[in-house]
Amino acid sequence: MLRARLVDGLLSGGWIRTAETEAAFRAVPRHLFTPEASLEAAYADDVVRTKFDADGVAISSVSAPWLQATMIEQARLAPGMRCLELGSGGYNAALLAELVGPTGEVTTVDIDPEITDRAARFLATAGYDQVRVLTRDGWHGAAEHAPFDAIVVTAQAVDIAPAWVDQLVDGGRLVIPLRLRGLSRGVAFERHGGRLISRETQMCGFVRMQGAGANPMRRLALRDDEIALRFDGNYPPKPELFDGILDTPRVDVWTGVHIPPMTPFDTLKLWLATVFDGYCQLDVAKDAATESLAPAGRPPGDAVVHDANVAYLTCPKIAESLYEFRVHAFGPNATTLAEDLADQVRIWERDHRTGPDPRITAHPLGTPDHDLPPGRTLDRAHTRITITWPHPTDPDATYHGSRPAPS
Ligand SMILES: C[S@@+](CC[C@H](N)C(=O)[O-])C[C@H]1O[C@@H](n2cnc3c(N)ncnc32)[C@H](O)[C@@H]1O
Repeated sequence: MLRARLVDGLLSGGWIRTAETEAAFRAVPRHLFTPEASLEAAYADDVVRTKFDADGVAISSVSAPWLQATMIEQARLAPGMRCLELGSGGYNAALLAELVGPTGEVTTVDIDPEITDRAARFLATAGYDQVRVLTRDGWHGAAEHAPFDAIVVTAQAVDIAPAWVDQLVDGGRLVIPLRLRGLSRGVAFERHGGRLISRETQMCGFVRMQGAGANPMRRLALRDDEIALRFDGNYPPKPELFDGILDTPRVDVWTGVHIPPMTPFDTLKLWLATVFDGYCQLDVAKDAATESLAPAGRPPGDAVVHDANVAYLTCPKIAESLYEFRVHAFGPNATTLAEDLADQVRIWERDHRTGPDPRITAHPLGTPDHDLPPGRTLDRAHTRITITWPHPTDPDATYHGSRPAPS
C-alpha cells in the first residue's frame, strides 16, 4: 500500500518514465534497506540518512526515490547489461538488478566497510544476493568486472576518474552528481571515445565523496563565522584583501530582471559560474543579521569576487507575486563589479532563461585548448570539464524540468 502510493507519486511527478523502472520500484521492498526509519519514512519520497560524521553531517544515506528514479532512467539500463554503482545503500543496487535482470550484472562499491556490510546483508534478505558488493575506493572503479554499460555514481564528485571512462563501453552512460564551481548538478554523460558528453542535467545534492576523489570547498570568513564565501578550486590568492570588506560602503544595482515566486533559476547560477572566474557561494548563518548585506531578504548565495571586490545577488519582493534580481557589492571597484554581475543577469534573461540546457563535456587531461568547445573550462586534476551554452537551433540542444523545448 505505502509502496504503491510512493510509485504512483513517482509516476505522476514524472520521475519514473518507463514501465521497466516502474516495475522495479514496485518489486523492491525499500523498508528492508532502511531499518532505522519508520515504514512511513521508508516509503516517503525522501532521503533516509544512515551515517553521520563527527560534525553531524550525513556521509551515507539511502537516496530519495525521485532522485534514484531520475538517475536510473538516465542510465538507460536494459536486460543483460552490466552496471557499476559507486556508493552502496543496497536499495538502489536492488533496483538496478531488477532492470538488468538475471542475465545482467550489478556491482556496487562503497569505501566504508560498515556500509557494504549492511548493504550485503539487506540485499541477501531481500533476495538480491546476485548483486556483487565490494569494499574499496570507488575512484578506481572495478576493473576486474569491466566493461560496464552504465556507471552510476552516488556521492558528489568534483573530478571524473580516468578509471570510470576506461571501464565504460563506448556509448555507455556515466550518471554522476558533479560539483561545478560549488554548484551540484546531476549529469548523465554518454561516452564518445575519450570524451563524455552530457545528455541531461538536473539539480541534486549528494553526500561528499571520500577517498582519492575527495575535494572539499574552501571557506573565507567575511564576518566572524556568520558570513563567509565558499570557493571551489578558485580560492583568492590574497584572501587578506577581504578583511573588513563588509564595513565599507555598499553599492546596490537593480537588474530589471523579474521572476515569479518559486521559480527555479538554476541555469542563472550555472551561467554566472560559466562567465565569472571568481564565481563562489555566499554563506550566511541562519541567525546572522543580514541588514548590512541586503536591505530586504536573504541572499540566495550567488557571489563573484574580483581583486579586492565582492558582489552578490539578492532577489527582493517588489510586488505581489513578483521578485527582482538585485546586486550588492563591496570593495574599491564595487560599482564596476556590481554592474558586470547585473549585466550578466540581463544576458541570461535575454539569451538563456528559456534556452537549452548548458552542455557539459569532460575531456581527457592534455586535450589542447583548440580542441575544446567554446565556454568555460574547469581544469581538474584528471579532466578538463567544459560548460557550453548551445544555440536553440543546435540539433543536440536539450531542455529539462519545466522549461519545454520551443516547438
Ligand atoms: C548517498 S550514499 C549511497 C546511496 C545508495 N546508492 C542508495 O542505495 O541510495 C553515498 C555513499 O557513497 C559512499 N562513498 C563516498 N565516497 C566514496 C568512494 N570514494 N568510493 C566508494 N564509495 C564512496 C559513502 O560511504 C556513502 O555510503
